[in-house]
Amino acid sequence: MHITVIGVGHVGLVSAAAFAKWGHQVVGYDDDASKIARMQAGEAWFYEPGLDELMAEGVEAARLSFTGDPDEALAEAEVVFVCVGTPPLPGGGPNLSYVEAVGRSVVEHARRDLLLVEKSTVPANTGKRLEQVIDREAERLGTAHRIEVASNPEFLKEGAAVQDTLHPDRVVYGTSSDWSRDLLRQVYAPLVAEDELPVVETDVPTAELIKHASNAFLATRISFINAVSQICDRVGADVRVVAEGMGHDVRIGHRFLQAGLGYGGSCFPKDVDAFAHLASQVGYDFGLLDEVREINVGQRRAVLDKLEGELWHLSGKTIAVLGAAFKPGTDDLRESPAVHLANDLADAGADVRVHDPVALGNLAEEQPHLGQAMTVEEALADAHAVVVATDWPEYVDITPEMYRDRLAYPIVIDARNIHDPEKMLAAGLHYYAMGRQSIIR
Ligand code: UDX
Repeated sequence: MHITVIGVGHVGLVSAAAFAKWGHQVVGYDDDASKIARMQAGEAWFYEPGLDELMAEGVEAARLSFTGDPDEALAEAEVVFVCVGTPPLPGGGPNLSYVEAVGRSVVEHARRDLLLVEKSTVPANTGKRLEQVIDREAERLGTAHRIEVASNPEFLKEGAAVQDTLHPDRVVYGTSSDWSRDLLRQVYAPLVAEDELPVVETDVPTAELIKHASNAFLATRISFINAVSQICDRVGADVRVVAEGMGHDVRIGHRFLQAGLGYGGSCFPKDVDAFAHLASQVGYDFGLLDEVREINVGQRRAVLDKLEGELWHLSGKTIAVLGAAFKPGTDDLRESPAVHLANDLADAGADVRVHDPVALGNLAEEQPHLGQAMTVEEALADAHAVVVATDWPEYVDITPEMYRDRLAYPIVIDARNIHDPEKMLAAGLHYYAMGRQSIIR
């Protein structure tokens, strides 16, 4: 099939490369010329394991190309995926103006009947608004091509985006006619045949809602276990064992029950806000989601409390922060709890030294006021305390002796619960974790 992907961010670029792998003829379009130039040279513009190889495979097979020219992008398109950003607006809802602009542009540049598929995360009923835009624009321009709207949400995680896209848990699409459903069946036929995947075929608003409900539910799980971690600290229990014990119940399961500094990234914070916003727009008070947000911010507050408990005033103290990315395996800093914490510390007057294995370049660009350390050793040297803020595997190997010998005061706040508390305590460190007070006592 001839597929065009509009917007080559994390979702768009990985999806484009995957469609090409499944045998489709794919064009990636973006209006950012510098991104297109890098991808035409065969290089992804962001870090994602396995993506360069997947892109190279598509380009070598002449099934994947990139362009910044909308006419060229849509010349042969049968199915067009909308993967542009939907950044949050100050009021909590997402900014859908880029999605709308794609709707208008597709009417102008379409050369045949086509299906426009929302892959960007959008609130329920965005499809209806898009149809309106398309109809109006078609009338204005006097074009006669059939353009229908469908929803096909993407569930990939950053850092595992290639794996998640090539081997998803399920495929979901919402359509409004047999014609558009059959087109999406053809797009996913190679994947579904190979993996015998569950496929959810539904209407457009239901598909849109599945995405928001999934992300809001996962964020709720994380906030739930983080709230439990607060209770664990107060009653002297170990949240990791509580989560393990809960997870053996197959109805609960083990994943996304890791307590720590809370969730971040480009999806969970934005989608929780957008879902709450949609709920209030349609007259439902989804107060649970407000709590989910509060608990998430509260985890940072808990780290500051632990630091102040040890150091009294943070002003003038040097604090090492290990990790800047919102999770391991990515250089993405969007809504990173580690970056928020570093800023909270800086606001409290601390001299912050941030280390990250891959995200320091982005940190220098986006948060130039924060101090940086090129190595863990440099971050720890004579610092008054250290906070482990991102659970990078390389930090697991830091020994209690490394902390003790380098820090000015032996204070370690393990905000991602990566260390063995017994070893840390045996070495004489003032060690704190999140919800593991039973061991620390
Ligand atoms: C998420 C969804 O998982 C994915 O399905 C969706 O398409 C996009 O949003 P992503 O933002 O890439 O993916 O990261 P994810 O691995 O889900 O982690 C999100 C945040 O939650 C990270 O900050 C992570 O550290 C945190 N997290 C995750 C926890 O604090 N505890 C957990 O148990 C799991």
